[in-house]
Amino acid sequence: MQNFEQFLIEHLPTSKSIHPDYESALQNMLIAGGKRFRPALLLGVVKAYNPLMLDSARHAAFAIELLHTYSLIHDDLPAMDDSPLRRGKPTLHVTFDEVTAILAGDALNTYSFEVLANAPFSDATRVKLIRELASNGGLNGMVLGQAIDCYFENKPLNVEDIKILHTNKTAKLIAASMKMGAIIVGREDVADELYDFGIKLGLLFQIQDDILDVTLSSEEAGKLTNNDEDKNSFVTILGLDESLKQANELADELTEAMLSFDENLRSELSSLLTKYINRHK
Ligand code: IPE
Ligand code: IPE
Ligand code: MG
Ligand code: MG
Ligand code: MG
Repeated sequence: MQNFEQFLIEHLPTSKSIHPDYESALQNMLIAGGKRFRPALLLGVVKAYNPLMLDSARHAAFAIELLHTYSLIHDDLPAMDDSPLRRGKPTLHVTFDEVTAILAGDALNTYSFEVLANAPFSDATRVKLIRELASNGGLNGMVLGQAIDCYFENKPLNVEDIKILHTNKTAKLIAASMKMGAIIVGREDVADELYDFGIKLGLLFQIQDDILDVTLSSEEAGKLTNNDEDKNSFVTILGLDESLKQANELADELTEAMLSFDENLRSELSSLLTKYINRHK
């Protein structure tokens, strides 16, 4: 994906010390792979509007992937989802120990902002990008979503509240990825539209993730599945059929919204989104 993997390998967090595991814990989940969906969205927006900026945009795409990867490391901890498998590999608290996993997550979180602060943009752009990632990935974004998700285990929420949960947990970071692309290319006139699109796309993404929890084996998913029974997942609350229906409705809304995008953006995004926007049978 537009040389992102190579960039990631070249910019892996490093730390030489007497600690035997710390550095490999920092790198382990980043090199394990993953779909790189958020970086692809940011880079897709940049490619559509100004492909000459792709090299510098990779710094921001990487920052998002760092923050996302930290969120997964913490999500898998025994205190949260207690999962032994992530991206097809044992989770960090299994490979190393819980302390190492917590601290590796903390380090990736702050490293993401260090990467943005050092990225080759103007000071004004850097501040905007840092603000966007912080406000969507932090206390009123992903972290809030995770807090609600964990607090309300075994306490069923209504559909409205589930949407708030998933908007925070997942959709805001996906929306921020698209908006950060617009900021990088100086197209703030489309930033809000892309953000709103990203929120809907993020909800669809989480509905699909909840569907995969009940339809894929752990081996196929590369992470522990059938693990959402106590959660306010879309499937647990709405059932599989209604979740599929809601996914279809969102897919239709997104397809409709894409019609108003200009052609370059539409073609960049549509190749990326086919597997998310395709209707379920
Ligand atoms: C998993 O994210 C957590 C959710 C928000 C559903 P991804 O499905 O993007 O995980 P990776 O990055 O591909 O491993
Ligand atoms: C986690 O959601 C989303 C994050 C913010 C990390 P899930 O708990 O559903 O993610 P998976 O299924 O473990 O990837
Ligand atoms: Mg979780
Ligand atoms: Mg989980
Ligand atoms: Mg899940």
